[in-house]
Amino acid sequence: MRRRIGILTSGGDCPGLNAAIRGVARAAYEMFDAEIVGIHDGYRGLIEGDYSEMTRSQFSGILTLGGTILGTSRTPFRNMRVIGDDNVDKVAMMKKTYKGLQLDCLITLGGNGTHKTANLLAQEGLNVIGLPKTIDNDLYGTDFTFGFHTANDIATDVIDRIHSTAASHGRCMCIEIMGNKAGWLTLYSGVAGGADVILIPEIPYDIDKVAEVVKRRAESNKGFTIIAVAEGAMDKDESKLKKKEREARRAAGFSSSAYLAKQLQEKVGVEARSVVPGHIQRGGTPSAYDRVLSTEFGVHAAELIRDGVFGVTVALKGNEITHNPLSEVAGVAKLVPPDHQMITTARDIGISFGD
Ligand code: F6P
Repeated sequence: MRRRIGILTSGGDCPGLNAAIRGVARAAYEMFDAEIVGIHDGYRGLIEGDYSEMTRSQFSGILTLGGTILGTSRTPFRNMRVIGDDNVDKVAMMKKTYKGLQLDCLITLGGNGTHKTANLLAQEGLNVIGLPKTIDNDLYGTDFTFGFHTANDIATDVIDRIHSTAASHGRCMCIEIMGNKAGWLTLYSGVAGGADVILIPEIPYDIDKVAEVVKRRAESNKGFTIIAVAEGAMDKDESKLKKKEREARRAAGFSSSAYLAKQLQEKVGVEARSVVPGHIQRGGTPSAYDRVLSTEFGVHAAELIRDGVFGVTVALKGNEITHNPLSEVAGVAKLVPPDHQMITTARDIGISFGD
């Protein structure tokens, strides 16, 4: 039986998107008579009817390619049902494109925002299957999202490289790791990179506690300190601010690492520097782990299409590739529980969380 599949990638890109697209396509071509339509730039393409019919050869040679061959965009879920000045009913337009293309299903590769819209489209009667990607690893119901491990390797490499220059100069280096709401990437790379302090959004820190660690190390024969600080980390005072006020502070130049470095310099009198690897963490070729995970996720999506199972998103649970209902995943962020085993592990080897 012929099946027409639409694929889109939405939200922030990450390594492994092309590997996952390739996994879906190759397995679909193997399993049934597949026709694949690539929707350009995420939901924007679905709304505006911007797409292209894909051929088998377009899925070749992309396993190791970073980014996404389909392009991506951020189309916030909160605006999906809002009809703006352009008078466009976005939900109606997405349904129109899907129907016009005579799709049998839509595969959406994305994180939390993408999954909220995927769930909305499923509720509107479309056959949707999600694939969990994000370097933040904050999607509910899956142990890992693809992209996370590659970003973790990159962030760890940054921390490794900062170590030698920190030691040479006896400085306190505050390395800002991506993750606005969730601290998974900071936690994992901080442990992997041997950070002395790890600061994550889920555990507001006490600057005096952090200063104590920096002072102790400055006075020891080590002389330097490595701090892995999440983009969204906040001290106890900032944590009392409203989200909008916190965002305004960040926009005014107080990035989490710059703010921290300034405070530590003033309090301890050490030389402190902020380092922001930024989007480097999302770029380049996926790691071997992510190539495998993305391929497994993609193949599972093709199996679901073959079996007519829709309204779900693919997930990793333990060693099993499985799926969860979109309705259970949409709108639920997976944050780091303060009693998570990795936190305990870090504390047990003397890493401070500044609390
Ligand atoms: O969701 C992935 C992510 O890289 C977050 O860690 C970060 O907060 C955000 O995207 C940055 O978004 P943008 O690329 O749109 O600046």
